[in-house]
Amino acid sequence: MAGKLAKEIKARRTFGIISHPDAGKTTLTEKLLLFGGAIQLAGSVKARKASTHALSDWMAIEQERGISVTSSVMQFVYRDYTVNLLDTPGHQDFSEDTYRVLTAVDSALMVIDHAKGVEPQTEKLMEVCRMRNTPVVTFINKLDREGLDPLEILAQIEDKLQIECVPLSWPIGMGKQFKGVYDIYRGQLHLFTPGRATQPEEGGVVIRDLNDPLLDELLGSAAVKLREDLDLLAGAANPFDHQEFLKASQTPVFFGSAINNFGVKELLDAFVELAPAPGCRPAEPRPVCPDEEEFSGFTFKVQANMNPAHRDRIAFFRICSGRFSRGMKVRHQRLGKEVILANATIFMAQDRSNVEEAFPGDIIGIHNHGTIKIGDTFTTAREALSFRGVPNFAPEHFRRVILKNPLRAKQLAKGLLQLAEEGAIQVFRPRQGNDFILGAVGVLQFEVTVARLKAEYGVDAVYEPVPYGAARWISSEDRRALAEFEAKNQNNLALDAEEHLAFLSESPWMLSRTMEMYPKITFHKTREHC
Ligand code: G4P
Repeated sequence: MAGKLAKEIKARRTFGIISHPDAGKTTLTEKLLLFGGAIQLAGSVKARKASTHALSDWMAIEQERGISVTSSVMQFVYRDYTVNLLDTPGHQDFSEDTYRVLTAVDSALMVIDHAKGVEPQTEKLMEVCRMRNTPVVTFINKLDREGLDPLEILAQIEDKLQIECVPLSWPIGMGKQFKGVYDIYRGQLHLFTPGRATQPEEGGVVIRDLNDPLLDELLGSAAVKLREDLDLLAGAANPFDHQEFLKASQTPVFFGSAINNFGVKELLDAFVELAPAPGCRPAEPRPVCPDEEEFSGFTFKVQANMNPAHRDRIAFFRICSGRFSRGMKVRHQRLGKEVILANATIFMAQDRSNVEEAFPGDIIGIHNHGTIKIGDTFTTAREALSFRGVPNFAPEHFRRVILKNPLRAKQLAKGLLQLAEEGAIQVFRPRQGNDFILGAVGVLQFEVTVARLKAEYGVDAVYEPVPYGAARWISSEDRRALAEFEAKNQNNLALDAEEHLAFLSESPWMLSRTMEMYPKITFHKTREHC
């Protein structure tokens, strides 16, 4: 059994794609799934993306259940690897979930549009990867279009994302002059054929010596530029070091065009070889390693059923150690109760199916009636284990909730508490007054919350703007300093849904000023669940 477990762990690759909207995440996901044989038809992922855009569609889809749940985790087999691709919702759907998904992955794939360079959403998501030292592979997309000089993009990544770039492929021209890429990793030239939706899969010409005259024959004058570029790179960039990549201080960089399926197979081949299998995870009171016999894992996302008649929820659960088998009995650590995991679901690219067994790195869906919260640990071990690192993230958008019918105050409080538990929204009670201030990482969370309050709790609520633009949880070992801070900042203090003290600031600028003024106070950007 131990042998089988070790083999399954070694084969697992669990990752998320991080990108700014429109960089090509959906297109690349689709191509990866096609290679994995998980979908047969180009366009299937695209169609799903189109239908998950607007809020009205969100509601309709959530009611149908399944579709959005299914697209959250996609498992496919590629070569000898079982790949779990977790969707990091973007666009208007950007929310705390987007961040939290990254707590369940072992690596990330960063997609950058080479015309746009590093964009804000990528910076935010990369910050979460940096926090957790998640190894990142970079794909620079849309080389079939004019864009920035590749060296300029690398400089931007190093500068804005604070990670050293090591190109493992290099583009030859761009836009109309795009001739292909040189695969530095394998010493092969891949030629691009414009206007071809699918490039030949095994189109690499082996050219290990760059002085090979075949290069001039195939590329003409572009061969000279390629040699110059690679010479420059050899002098400027450090060589690829797998350990540095695993420590998240280097990112290997690939170039291509997702829509043309160019450079995608090379990317996937290198990705499965380089990206780490599940490793040990931080937990209290000790780290947990995947090859431990006892089963364990944690919940990183909870999705509720829109139908008010069925208050069941699906908890997305990342397996961290041991083997899952259907019907197994596990301990719900927070509640100190035994539960039976009878109805777990594994997410395939097209549909979900009941799972009989699953392994570290896999994500299973567990149905429950509101008993599972984000960050909950389940294990078969007798010891009291609890995984860390599935926090709340400091919100950046705020609204005050106004109740249309004051008689529904109790239902409002209950609804907000449950939605906060689910991680759909953050709820703050200011020290001064009786208001509820809602905090979100993405503004769609507000619309979803008001819609769900009405549908599930019969509460009609509207929003008012509030003059806040940043938040931090605060603590200090120095009690006097904390008391002084509290006395001077009464108007900006609030308790969150779990009664932790938070500081709501007018703007990020004001926040950094306050942080400078009170060096004895610690301002936390994240807060662990308890
Ligand atoms: P996202 O999920 O990151 O938001 O990006 P998505 O894949 O939807 O891609 C955004 C747009 O960029 C799409 O165009 C897509 O076709 C295009 N795109 C993706 N990869 C490439 C590429 O390698 N080269 C070029 N030239 N374009 C690319 P759209 O006009 O928004 O949609 P559609 O009408 O093409 O479907």
